[in-house]
Amino acid sequence: MRAAEAFRTAFGHEPEGVWRAPGRVNLIGEHTDYNDGFVLPFAVPWGVTAAVHRRDDDTIGLLSLQGGSEPQAITDYERAEGWTRYVVGVFWALRQAGHAVRGADIVIDGDVPRGAGLSSSAALEVVVAMALNDLYELGLSRLDLALLSQKAENDFVGMPCGIMDQAASALSEEGRALFMDCRSLATRAVPLDLAAEGLQILIIDTGAHHELADGQYARRRHDCESAAKRLGVKALRDVTDLAAALAVLEGDERKRVQHVVTENHRVEALIGLLRAGAVREIGALLNASHISLRDQYEVSCAELDVAVEAAVRGGARGARMTGGGFGGSAIALVADDRMADVRREVEKAYEQQGWAPPRFLPATPAPGAHRLT
Ligand code: GLA
Repeated sequence: MRAAEAFRTAFGHEPEGVWRAPGRVNLIGEHTDYNDGFVLPFAVPWGVTAAVHRRDDDTIGLLSLQGGSEPQAITDYERAEGWTRYVVGVFWALRQAGHAVRGADIVIDGDVPRGAGLSSSAALEVVVAMALNDLYELGLSRLDLALLSQKAENDFVGMPCGIMDQAASALSEEGRALFMDCRSLATRAVPLDLAAEGLQILIIDTGAHHELADGQYARRRHDCESAAKRLGVKALRDVTDLAAALAVLEGDERKRVQHVVTENHRVEALIGLLRAGAVREIGALLNASHISLRDQYEVSCAELDVAVEAAVRGGARGARMTGGGFGGSAIALVADDRMADVRREVEKAYEQQGWAPPRFLPATPAPGAHRLT
């Protein structure tokens, strides 16, 4: 195993163990998690592997096989920079929660395609949280690890994300999507056997990343919170009469509410179709989700729209952007015998725009975080 080998070379002894946590795609339920709503992500086969050994001081010795050949020693947590903040944030969050964890030496080996919007940062947080939980026998549940990782990201890294990505990484099961009620935090594994139906979910990594992403994410959250306040509900999850709500709202808030309320219904409808064994029929919901994210929530971008439209034109049963938006990836539900057509159509569309070709990745629901050795 590369991470363990590199650990031996870097630190001169064996790691105590090796852990792995996956990235995710979201099938449906976008920008609903921080509105106490519903999500349906699943873990992807790409993730982050970490070889770890505890230290008896508070230093974090950190080496990534994707950057740098020498480990860096982080002693002043607040001054940690870039990707290392996701790791340091987990130590910080554990201590905030009263757990007496010391430092550790860690080698990270990640294979989540960079910038694809497949939550490599959540995978990084969760793998470190799980390793420390095991080594220190903290007895935290997978949900606890997800919440702690979210806290690291919210309060240490400073990205006000919801719970979806960390939950998907920590709680997913192979061959299943993860339904989560983001208010009660109850989860359910939903069988997603696409191969039996001759279907695949194709990830189209647009390669685009628009810098607005973080600021716009915070603004959407703010729009939703102020709309909820105006409507006198705890969260947009509680809006039951959409027409009545829209009648008293205007501008951006009105559009955001329209998306969140209908998106929650789409998650439930999609689960109903899966339960009925009608996986071929979920495409229309994917399309509707994309249109709503594009026009009402306004988090799509040209690269995502072109990918989605071309995929459908090429014969996909449905397609949508996945994740936070402003770049990253789209997903398309494609029958095996249409796969070549779909890819060709998307490639052609990108070429016509003068854009670099997108990357295609086949997504099968992978296992959640686990210990390897
Ligand atoms: C990002 C956030 C998630 C979620 C999605 C949008 O991935 O990290 O919590 O809000 O955007 O659905």
